[in-house]
Amino acid sequence: MNVYGLIGNPVGHSLSPPMHEAAYEARSLDARYVTLEADPDRIEAAVAGADALGVAGLNVTVPFKQDVLSAVDPTPTAEAVGAVNTITFDGDDDKRPEGHNTDVEGVVRAFEHHDVELPGKSAIVVGAGGAGRAATYALADAGADVFVANRTVERAESLAADFDDLGVNESQRLSFANQNASRSGDVDGGGLDTLDERLPEAELLVNATSVGMEDPNSSPVPAGLLHGDLAVLDAVYSPLRTKLLRDSERAGAKTVDGAWMLLFQGVAAFERWTGVDAPIAVMNEALRDRL
Ligand code: ATR
Repeated sequence: MNVYGLIGNPVGHSLSPPMHEAAYEARSLDARYVTLEADPDRIEAAVAGADALGVAGLNVTVPFKQDVLSAVDPTPTAEAVGAVNTITFDGDDDKRPEGHNTDVEGVVRAFEHHDVELPGKSAIVVGAGGAGRAATYALADAGADVFVANRTVERAESLAADFDDLGVNESQRLSFANQNASRSGDVDGGGLDTLDERLPEAELLVNATSVGMEDPNSSPVPAGLLHGDLAVLDAVYSPLRTKLLRDSERAGAKTVDGAWMLLFQGVAAFERWTGVDAPIAVMNEALRDRL
């Protein structure tokens, strides 16, 4: 039996176990998915221990996505984003486990699943934390021009400076995201006040802040700025229909809720671990049953 796990702290309310176990059952795989609350002071030992125990794969969540970088060989994407959420072990004693970032794939595939094309589009990412970094990288790598708008202006500017010249060569690119992208997008950043001017011209909008989570009637974007030519992805998945998505729908925009991001980062991890096509509909249902 293969054992997969999620390390984080806390991990108690994670939706990953039911999502992955539904996939194992649908594909008749003899596997289990467990949550493991790791000691923050011994994260490298935790990864090495999992490797030694024959754990088949790990997901990584808050607050360890950056910390585990020192315990793995990151892919170019994970290295650029500065975070790992999926680890693969190949059983070779001499090699470190490989660290991937499937949050990036989650963003791209959530849009693609809703028939939203990314190359050449003009995108706004609100938020410059971990989620904002992953979303910005994903969209720019897929060929969209991205403006990062953040409450703390310096954080948006520094993120933009990191990604403005991705310098990613063809072989390193996310193949699924770049089939139509002839170039990486430009990345720029500023404060939330820039939304007044930029949102009317934008075609893609991602909320990568936690606004809308604690207070279901709060939104990071004034409703009056939303319009019908936008596709809006909210990284928040609880509640599923955030105020931003309700406002966006009313403005005639296409909406993609945060469960799609969660789903597709899991789909990408499953496929990398097992080499089997993920049963997307089954995983989606397992997730949405619990939201
Ligand atoms: P994560 O890794 O989930 O992205 P984070 O690193 O704590 O979490 O980042 C949270 C993001 O939400 C940041 O962009 C933060 O803005 P600041 O950089 O100015 O702190 C943003 N955020 C959180 N609460 C917010 C609020 N009430 N209004 C606007 N932005 C907010």
